[in-house]
This record gives sequence, structure tokens and C-alpha cells, in this order.
Amino acid sequence: MTKQTLKNLAIIMDGNGRWAKQRGLNRTKGHEKGAEVIRDITTYCAKHPSIETVTFYAFSTENWKRPKLEVEFLMKLLDRYLQKELETYQKNNVRFMAIGDIKAFSPKLQERIRITEKATSRNSDLKHILALNYGGRAEITHAVNTLMAKGKKAVTEADISSALQTPYSDIDLLVRTSGEERVSNYLLWQISYAEFYFTETLWPDFTIEELDEIIEDFEGRTRRFGGLS
Ligand code: IPE
Ligand code: IPE
Ligand code: MG
Repeated sequence: MTKQTLKNLAIIMDGNGRWAKQRGLNRTKGHEKGAEVIRDITTYCAKHPSIETVTFYAFSTENWKRPKLEVEFLMKLLDRYLQKELETYQKNNVRFMAIGDIKAFSPKLQERIRITEKATSRNSDLKHILALNYGGRAEITHAVNTLMAKGKKAVTEADISSALQTPYSDIDLLVRTSGEERVSNYLLWQISYAEFYFTETLWPDFTIEELDEIIEDFEGRTRRFGGLS
């Protein structure tokens, strides 16, 4: 049997808060450790022979419901992360991209995101995408409105796919950590035929060794896309 090829990987990084709580720490410590894990996983993906994109869920359109202090911390952490990461992106030939409505962020953070996108735009081993103030429903709605503004009266699936923010229209594998088995408004259009993998591991404890095992599991799966294998 031929192995499946993983091109587009999506990750719902969940469990930062619980990881911190288990250690008697503030939730913010879980987010800090979680950011380090993003770095390791991205480096792994850049070296992987078939992965073209990895899209991490970093902040959902629903995460504004969290306490103001936690939201502010996450914004500062993102700014620091991108500032620090630029060197690693260049070293590993990784292109950074953001999806989601970043206009809700501070001008300074928007600037940081744009600068990082621009500085890495020619890197070609991997697209490292962060979903920021992202919601799958918002993305699809925005795509349809964009098409209507261009004068479309009826849209096709291909039209919608091309109007999405992601550089791909199909996710191959979606991984969610922390034992929660739900999609939480992530990449709703793009996961229509994705393989799902749920692990109990909390995101700050997630490792490249575990991702390696998950990818091996994915490669052994049968994908039928509605046909017969
Ligand atoms: C995921 O970890 C990170 C974000 C949503 C920003 P959580 O913060 O959701 O951690 P738990 O689910 O409360 O443990
Ligand atoms: C999903 O995690 C969003 C991110 C990982 C950024 P949440 O922790 O916000 O999801 P729910 O609320 O448990 O579904
Ligand atoms: Mg959570």
C-alpha cells in the first residue's frame, strides 16, 4: 500500500492553561512554554520532506472572551515571539504568514506581523502560518463578501477556495492536543476531507517525537474521498 503524503498540516494547540494549573503556575506560563513548542515543531516541519504548510491556531475569534489580562499577555507574547523568531525563519528558509482579521490588533502588533511576512516572503522550505483572530465562519463569510464585491452573483466552490486566506484549500491532517475532540471554528472549509488526530498531551508537553508518530499513523491511513479504495 502506498503511503499518504502530508503536505498541509494544521494544529490546534490546546492545553496551555491546564499545563500551568497542574504546576501551580499562572496560565501565562503555559502560553510561554507553548510558544517554545511552536518553534520546535516549525523547525521540524521545515526539515520534513513533504510538509509544505503548517498552520497553528494561535488566537480564535472567540478568544476575546477571555480575561483582558490574558488577552493582553497573548498579544505581547506574539509580538516578542515574532521579533525573536525572524532570525530562525531566515536560517531555516521559512516563510511566515498570518491568517485572520489582524486589524483588531494594536497598530504596533499589526506592523510586526507585516514586517515579518515581508522579510520572509522569499523563503521557500515551509509556510509557517499563524491563525490570529481567526474563525472559520468569519473566513468563509469574508470570502463570499469579497466575491460579491467583485460583482459575482453566484459563487462556485472553486471561487470560495480561491478567496480564502489560506494558500491551500485542503488540509491533509488536523492535530488537536489536550484531549478535547472538537474543531472550535478552525479551518472549516479546508478540513472537509482532513484526517483528524486527537492526543491527550497538553500543548506545552508536545514534542517532535510525538508529531513523528502521528505522521506515521497518518501515512498508514486509507483516504477514500468518497470513492472506493
Ligand atoms: C491554547 O491553550 C492556547 C490558546 C487558546 C491561546 P488554552 O489557553 O486554551 O489552554 P486550556 O484549554 O485552558 O488548558
Ligand atoms: C481553540 O482553543 C483556539 C486556539 C487554540 C487558539 P480554545 O481553548 O479556545 O477552544 P475551546 O473554547 O476549548 O473550544
Ligand atoms: Mg483551551
